Amino acid sequence: MKRYDGAVAVVTGASSGIGRRVAVDLTDRGATVVGLARRGDLLAELQPTIKAATPASRTQTCDVSDERAYRQVLAEIAEEHGGIDILINNAAIEQLTPASDPERMMEGARRLFATNFFGLVAGTLAVLPGMIERRSGIVVNVSSDAARAPEPGHSAYSASKAAVSAFTEAIAHEVAASSVHVHVLYPGWVPTAMGMSGFGEGDTLPPKPVRRTEEQVSQLLLNRMGGPRIEINAAWLPLLAPIGRTVLPRAYQREMRRRFAAIG
Ligand SMILES: NC(=O)c1ccc[n+]([C@@H]2O[C@H](COP(=O)([O-])OP(=O)(O)OC[C@H]3O[C@@H](n4cnc5c(N)ncnc54)[C@H](OP(=O)(O)O)[C@@H]3O)[C@@H](O)[C@H]2O)c1
Repeated sequence: MKRYDGAVAVVTGASSGIGRRVAVDLTDRGATVVGLARRGDLLAELQPTIKAATPASRTQTCDVSDERAYRQVLAEIAEEHGGIDILINNAAIEQLTPASDPERMMEGARRLFATNFFGLVAGTLAVLPGMIERRSGIVVNVSSDAARAPEPGHSAYSASKAAVSAFTEAIAHEVAASSVHVHVLYPGWVPTAMGMSGFGEGDTLPPKPVRRTEEQVSQLLLNRMGGPRIEINAAWLPLLAPIGRTVLPRAYQREMRRRFAAIG
């Protein structure tokens, strides 16, 4: 099991789901973690758990869509600990943005990009100079299979995640010579609050090969990050989506349209 003893890590979206699990698992592997999110009550519940594992760990409220505030928080953490070794840009939101409702679509797209993309860009750019100077560091930007197989009704979310993937891959090449590792994580489908949103009682959940638990995604990430691969994929089946779109376009399109009909 890979250890992170002495490393200083920031995890955004630490109040729930995948981010919470990654924060806890990082402290179990020896890292000092600062967990960020907006909901202070959930962060207050998390704090004793991460502190018990590594006493300097803590949580702090921070809205990553407020780029200036997020950069400021990262600067203060770097000052406090002498640098940030690991940044997990995990915070994100999701909402339906059907094209049939242009006003909702534009408002939703701005909101989604502010958190899912521009917040993540601001965080990445804030920590990279210190990492490049020290010639060491890890940034993980959490994307989604929606980036590879954009889902009808979720155009803005899918676009924000495609932007995350493209940005992250390009930056990973730029900093590779400085021994800084920049990864894009595809978690598969995880039954978190976000994963379950849109599923009603009795609805068919995504197929087993794409289902993962928070723990599985977190453990895979902590074992793989810092390694040579830019992409970290929790499930392999979604990797076939771009191939299916090209090789079997009619079947692929039929399936996507069935999904759209299902969400109404
Ligand atoms: N679950 C899935 O199936 C799935 C699949 C593919 C990708 N993902 C990605 O995995 C990541 C984690 O999602 P999850 O499934 O764990 O969902 P989740 O349980 O809803 O967690 C999302 C986290 O993001 C935080 N967050 C949202 N907006 C924020 C903001 N403006 N500032 C700071 N924190 C913010 C939330 O905390 P607060 O509300 O307290 O701020 C929460 O802790 C996301 O990037 C998501 O897109 C999930």
